[in-house]
Amino acid sequence: MPPSLATFLASQQHEPTVARLAPALQHIAGACIAIARAIRQAALTGSQGLAGSDNIQGEAQQKLDVISNELMIEAARRCPQIAALASEELDDIVQLNASTADSLLLLTDPLDGSSNLDIGMTVGSIFSLLPATAGSVTTASFLRPGHEQCCAGYALYGPATMLVFTTGSEVNGFTLDEARGEFLLTHPQLQIAPECSEFAINAANLRHWELPVQRYIAECQAGSAGPRGKDFNMRWVAAMVADVHRILLRGGVFLYPRDARQPPGAGKLRLLYEANPMALLIEAAGGAASNGSERLLDMNPERLHQRTGVVLGARNEVERLASYHLSH
Ligand code: F6P
Repeated sequence: MPPSLATFLASQQHEPTVARLAPALQHIAGACIAIARAIRQAALTGSQGLAGSDNIQGEAQQKLDVISNELMIEAARRCPQIAALASEELDDIVQLNASTADSLLLLTDPLDGSSNLDIGMTVGSIFSLLPATAGSVTTASFLRPGHEQCCAGYALYGPATMLVFTTGSEVNGFTLDEARGEFLLTHPQLQIAPECSEFAINAANLRHWELPVQRYIAECQAGSAGPRGKDFNMRWVAAMVADVHRILLRGGVFLYPRDARQPPGAGKLRLLYEANPMALLIEAAGGAASNGSERLLDMNPERLHQRTGVVLGARNEVERLASYHLSH
């Protein structure tokens, strides 16, 4: 029997970071189990469809977006170590518990890929933890570069419910044992190969991409007859968690590039709730993550809901695109 999440965390208690993070991770795991259940039961409980509200970016919220957000907040409130939370679904931060020297700040996209919900496709939750700084917690406390995250991960709600996270040095994947109601370590120490022959991008946006991105994708599509000299495959689940999960398990590169529809430098994905947590995971697994040309984890956020271009996965592919931007 593989070790449970609790056993795994107990075995890592000699690592000061893990000892500090363990209770928060257990509470987040509990929220993810509750969210998985809400998604599975949604057609039976009347929880499918629109909530009738918009989030701060003007996107229509689904009922399950709202439910998942509430479940994540409830779980975080029950964890004394989590002082405050910022969520993609909320305009402002939420103060939860008294802030001490050991406190943590939780950032979350409680339900990623929610356009997949009503068609029964994979969705996920994304989370990351920052060490709280001394003094009272404000919005500015969350505006820190991604390399300061001490933990990041996601839950995948697909054929199985999985929890994948890093505390900085390695990436481990756990599968929910439904009968026991706990996560078991099934995918230890995930690694991403530097080379790949699979890319993920929403190709419908081609006309909006910057020229280096158009060049990169055209070369992949040219296959063995083109400058890359090999054939590539394309996959797009339209839920970042699922696309990143595939890359952690079998390699590849994921792109949601900044494009001409957005303000300069921006893309579709959120820096704090999506790009940074995934970048920490991908780098811990030996891959690379950039906004196209610069390391994502070194970006200095200016706003809570800031967007960015995202290119992550196989190191050599991410670096190749960055070199196309440089030479452009
Ligand atoms: O909001 C984020 C998201 O749903 C990601 O999970 C996903 O990668 C992307 O948007 C899908 O975008 P599109 O609708 O352009 O395929």
